[in-house]
Amino acid sequence: MTTSFPPISPKLKGFMHGADYNPDQWQHAPEILEEDIRLMKLAKCNVMAIGIFAWAALEPEEGIFTFEWLDRVLDRFAANGIYAWLATPSGARPAWMSAKYPEVLRVEANRVRNLHGGRHNHCYSSPVYRAKVRIMNTKLAERYAHHPAVIGWHISNEYGGECHCDFCQEAFREWLQERYGTLAALNQAWWTTFWSHTYTDWSQIESPAPHGERMVHGHNLDWRRFVTDRTVDFCRHEIAPLRAIRPELPVTANMMDWFEGLDYRKFADILDVISWDAYPTWHDLQDQGALAAWFSFNHDLFRSLKGGQPFMLMESTPSMTNWQAVSKLKRPGMHLLSSLQAVAHGSDTVQYFQWRKSRGSSEKLHGAVVDHVGHEHTRVFSDVAELGGILEKIASVAGSAVPAQVAIIADWDNRWAVKDSQGPLNRGIDYERTVMQHYRAFWELGVPVDVIGSDDHFAHYKLIVAPMMYLCTEQAGAAIEAFVAGGGTFVTTYWSGIVNESDLCHLGGFPGPLRSTLGIWSEEIDGLHEGEYNALVRRDDKLPGLKESYEVYDLCDLIHTEGAEVLAEYREDFYAGRPALTVNAFGKGKAYYLAARAKEPFYADFYGQLIQEAGVSRVIDTELPSDVTAQMRTDGENDYVFLLNFSGQAQEIGLAGQAFTDLFSGRAEQAAVHLDVHGLRLLKRTKAGRI
Ligand code: GLA
Ligand code: ZN
Repeated sequence: MTTSFPPISPKLKGFMHGADYNPDQWQHAPEILEEDIRLMKLAKCNVMAIGIFAWAALEPEEGIFTFEWLDRVLDRFAANGIYAWLATPSGARPAWMSAKYPEVLRVEANRVRNLHGGRHNHCYSSPVYRAKVRIMNTKLAERYAHHPAVIGWHISNEYGGECHCDFCQEAFREWLQERYGTLAALNQAWWTTFWSHTYTDWSQIESPAPHGERMVHGHNLDWRRFVTDRTVDFCRHEIAPLRAIRPELPVTANMMDWFEGLDYRKFADILDVISWDAYPTWHDLQDQGALAAWFSFNHDLFRSLKGGQPFMLMESTPSMTNWQAVSKLKRPGMHLLSSLQAVAHGSDTVQYFQWRKSRGSSEKLHGAVVDHVGHEHTRVFSDVAELGGILEKIASVAGSAVPAQVAIIADWDNRWAVKDSQGPLNRGIDYERTVMQHYRAFWELGVPVDVIGSDDHFAHYKLIVAPMMYLCTEQAGAAIEAFVAGGGTFVTTYWSGIVNESDLCHLGGFPGPLRSTLGIWSEEIDGLHEGEYNALVRRDDKLPGLKESYEVYDLCDLIHTEGAEVLAEYREDFYAGRPALTVNAFGKGKAYYLAARAKEPFYADFYGQLIQEAGVSRVIDTELPSDVTAQMRTDGENDYVFLLNFSGQAQEIGLAGQAFTDLFSGRAEQAAVHLDVHGLRLLKRTKAGRI
């Protein structure tokens, strides 16, 4: 495993700390730039992302470019040791463009073309939009790729959405022709004989529509894949002129938390570094442990997109957002905790939306480092400056790796397919929540996890979990089989191995390609009403960590063993006594099947036991109170152990007799450490000190 990665930019060793900055909004007040630079230094900010929505300021009229304001900003940055992620402005565009070339406007699924307005409202196939983007990006690259302040490209902003215009329909058909070759193959893959939906000409195929076709699962799935591929293609189109001028300048595109609309794994190869925008709604009414685990999961997902390479926290709010029903202020400590949570999971940056509040429009009241009052004497500014100081102090952590021995498989096409299917639980199949049930158990145990796709490499993991792997291809099944045969431990659940890549059911018995690895056959599955429960009852004492019984709900799979051993059985209903949890010894490894959705503490107990069996190490072998997690980065020589307290209470954590140095205070710690409410500790242990 790689344990030491080069810095994201050779110009900035250690952490990046900064924000989205919109000097284009303050051109009428030139003194603001100088004041901002003074404040950036005070806040210990060393990077800004600029120009994100600046197209109208860069090209106020077609073909008339006004770069002078940006020259001044970048020159002043360079003179003051501040660096810039320079954005391409395609996330929004000037009104003149929409007025002159309506084809750049997006068409919704109902086939109505949008008016100009908002942002992210473009067609990604429009030849005019692509041409305009190429001209703009080429000019930016020519002028700034070698500017001393520019350390990388911030491509567009939070790509998302889809377009149903004629260009996009044509592109969809071409994409399908490439995928299937013949109409006969497409008709077979989509099972179009159903309801007489057989296509006899490519021109008959359209994107799914609320007033048209939306019941052909393979069609829906391919459309979503196409939307990803089209967006990747647009992103590649944006990047080409930048790389042509200076290939070594890193390129990123900011992403959103486990965004459903785009399969982010497909972007990994065209980006040099992954970045994402995290907005945890701390102190709201939901379970704060679940919220914290969700953000940890996302950090792990984004780190895993590029094989564990450090990622960027590109946006987070330094104080509050302005889009929640109720926006709570971050309680003392929370800014540090939330920011270092990202670092603990592999981020080498802490960046915000936004540096200075815009004076008008919809985000004028969204949190920023600099408030409308205009000075540094605010609670938020002090929090940011304090964090800046801490990031400087812990600079040695940057570039280190997260050593995960456990992986969770979470494929986008599985997620799309399982949610699209009409089956045993249409009131909500709860795919994401299911994944989180499994993830949270590891989070509570303090076990680092990678979040991977089914076509990633498996060999270096000890334990792989694939919750509700409804869509399982033959290739994925074979890879899992090889992983288990080679000595790995695999866990999957009810509603797995049901369909292939075209959303066609596997014939010959579920769970299809996983059947022999798991040593079971699933004959049928029972849906349970809300409030209805069955129970999973331990058989003998085969898995010692398990309690006598656990409640199960939502889905109960009725399986037959074909070589697997039964660890637990159902307690009630006509299937009482039938297997509910099995394990199959396969080759040198083991494959577990959980037949029903269990309630906690099942996952905590089950994985607590399994990590021992599979030889997975915890970050620190100590009792962790609920909603306190331990995460870790390592550079091979030093382990950086993060104890993060999301429990809302002060906590004491034993250190299992290991010798640590507190990276904030420099003090040696051995017995136990105290965590404040919303507190954390960052402890270093040398390899020699590890047990
Ligand atoms: C997103 C966008 C930003 C801003 C923030 C507000 O992440 O990228 O431009 O709108 O949300 O939270
Ligand atoms: Zn379009």
